Amino acid sequence: MRLKASDISCLFNHATNVPMLMPQPVSQTIQFIRRGEVVALSNVPPTRTLLEVLREDLGYTGTKEGCGEGDCGACTVVLGEAQGGALSFKAVNSCIRMAHSVNGLALWTVEDLTADPLLQGGAAGALHPAQEAMVQCHGSQCGFCTPGFVMSLFGMYQNHVAHGQSVSRELAQTELSGNLCRCTGYRPILDAAQQMASFPAVRLDESRLKTALAQIQPAPGHADSAYLLPATLAELLAARAAQPAAQLVAGCTDVGLWVTKLHKNFDAVIDLTRVAELRRIEQQNGLLVIGAAANLHDAFAALVQHWPELKTFATRFAGLPVRNSGTLGGNVANGSPIGDSMPLLIALHARIVLASLRGQREMALEDFYTGYRQNLLAPDEVLAFIKLPLPAAAAAAQPLLRAYKISKRYDDDISAVCLALNLQLADGVVQAISIGAGGVAATPVRAVQTEAALRGQPWTQASVQAAMATLRAEFEPISDMRASSGYRREVLGNLLQRFWLESQGAQHIKLESFNLEALA
Ligand SMILES: Cc1cc2nc3c(=O)[nH]c(=O)nc-3n(C[C@H](O)[C@H](O)[C@H](O)COP(=O)(O)OP(=O)(O)OC[C@H]3O[C@@H](n4cnc5c(N)ncnc54)[C@H](O)[C@@H]3O)c2cc1C
Ligand code: FES
Ligand code: FES
Repeated sequence: MRLKASDISCLFNHATNVPMLMPQPVSQTIQFIRRGEVVALSNVPPTRTLLEVLREDLGYTGTKEGCGEGDCGACTVVLGEAQGGALSFKAVNSCIRMAHSVNGLALWTVEDLTADPLLQGGAAGALHPAQEAMVQCHGSQCGFCTPGFVMSLFGMYQNHVAHGQSVSRELAQTELSGNLCRCTGYRPILDAAQQMASFPAVRLDESRLKTALAQIQPAPGHADSAYLLPATLAELLAARAAQPAAQLVAGCTDVGLWVTKLHKNFDAVIDLTRVAELRRIEQQNGLLVIGAAANLHDAFAALVQHWPELKTFATRFAGLPVRNSGTLGGNVANGSPIGDSMPLLIALHARIVLASLRGQREMALEDFYTGYRQNLLAPDEVLAFIKLPLPAAAAAAQPLLRAYKISKRYDDDISAVCLALNLQLADGVVQAISIGAGGVAATPVRAVQTEAALRGQPWTQASVQAAMATLRAEFEPISDMRASSGYRREVLGNLLQRFWLESQGAQHIKLESFNLEALA
C-alpha cells in the first residue's frame, strides 16, 4: 500500500484555510509503517499535524479531535520505533504532533487494531484485548473518548501485558492520566486496563516490523527541505547554522499549540528528536547527563532512579502521551515561568550545555534565563545537555529533597506554584540548601535570599518560620487565572513549612491534599 497525500496541501495553508500566495519550500516524503506496509506521503507542509493528515488527507476518522491541545487524549495514536535492536511503543497526541515527525516510525490508529496483519493471535474477527476489555467492563458510553483510551490501552498492552507484566491500578491510573472521559467515569476504564491480560493474547510480529522499519529510515534532511530530521549532533548544528530562522522543535508539546491554537505557520522546521547524542541519558564522572532530546518519561525515570522521592512529582508532569513526546530540553528551552522541571533542576544544581558549530558553553541553569521566555541561546545554538551532580553514595547524611506542585487539578495540569528544596544538614545545622521556584516570577528562579537566610542556621521551627517570611517576600508573583499573587506568596511559605514538617518525620503528609481543589 503506497498512499500519496493530495497535492492540495501545496495550495492551501491548513492552519488558516486560506490559499497561500507564496510557494512553500519542498518537504521530504514522509514514510511510515502502518498495517505492516509502507505509507508514503509527499507535499505535506511542515506544520500539518498528524491528526490532520489522518482525518483529512487519508480519511481515517476513527482518531478524534477534542481539545486540539494535548489535554484530552481523544486523538491518541501509538508510535513504534526501533531503538538499539528493540522496539519501543509510545502513546502520543496526534493533534499537536507534526506529521513529519513520524517519518521512519510505525503508526497504529484505532482502526488498525483489528486490521494490522502483524497483530496475530486473536480469533478471526475478534477485537484486540484493549477493545474487548472496554466492551466487557462497560468502559464506553457516548464513545467520543473511547478511541483515545483504547490506544493508550494498546500502548500499555504492548509495554506491559505483552511482556507478561500485570497492570496494577496505580499503573493504569498513571498511564491513562492523559485521557479524559466526561460521561463513563474512570472506574470501568481502569478495570478494563487490568482485565486486558485475561483475553486471548495478541502478539505483534516484531521481526517483520523491524525489517519493515529498517527499510524506511529517513535520509538526512536536504538543505532545501522544509522539515529536517537530523540524526547526529553534527548534522543538527550544521542545519541550525544554515537556517537560524527555522523553527527548532523537539516533542512539539509546546510548539504544537502555537500551530493549532495561535495558527502559526513555519516555512522551515528542524526537528531534533532523532539526534542520537541528544537522546542519551548517561552517568559520567559523578554526573547524570541527560540529552536535551530525551523524552520526559525517560528523563524522569532516570531522575527517579537516583532520587526515588521524585516519583509522584514525575507522574504529575502532564499525562503520559505528553511525557512520551515532550522532552526535558524542550521544557528548559521553552523557559515557561510555570514549567515544572526547572525548579527541580535548579534545586539539584543543574548545569546546561549549549552547543553550536562554534563550540560548547556551560552554565548554571538559573543563569540561562534573561526575562520572560527569554534566554541566552544564540540563533545558531541548541540546548544539548543537562548535567546534574549525582548524590554521593558514601555521604554521612543524605540530602533531603522534595518537589511540590500546586495545581488546580491533580492530574495533567499546569502548576500555579512549584517549589523544589534540596537540604543538607550537618549536626542539625543547615550546611547547604538550594531552592528552585516556579510560578512566582517571570522566569524559573532560585530563592537565593531564603537560602542565605537558612544557611548556617539550626534546622528548627523558629529558623524555618523566619525563612518562610523571607521566601514570601523574595518574589513578586502575578495574579492570573491559576492563582492570585497573595495565594502564591502564602503557598510558598506553607510549602517550606511542610518541608520542615516532613524533615521531622511527618512523612504521611499526602501530596494529594495540597492541591487547590482540596484547599477550596
Ligand atoms: C497537555 C499538556 C500538559 C502539559 N503539562 C505540563 C506540565 O505539567 N508541566 C510543564 O512544565 N509543562 C507542561 N506542558 C508543556 C510541555 O509539555 C513541556 O514544556 C515540554 O517539556 C516541552 O518539550 P517539547 O520537547 O515538546 O518542546 P517543543 O514544543 O518541541 O519546543 C518548545 C520550545 O523549546 C525549543 N527547544 C526545544 N528543544 C530545544 C533544544 N534542545 N535547544 C533549543 N531549543 C529547544 C523550541 O524551539 C521551542 O521554542 C504541557 C503541555 C501540554 C500540551
Ligand atoms: S484532541 Fe485533545 S489531546 Fe488531542
Ligand atoms: S464515553 Fe463519553 S466522553 Fe468518555
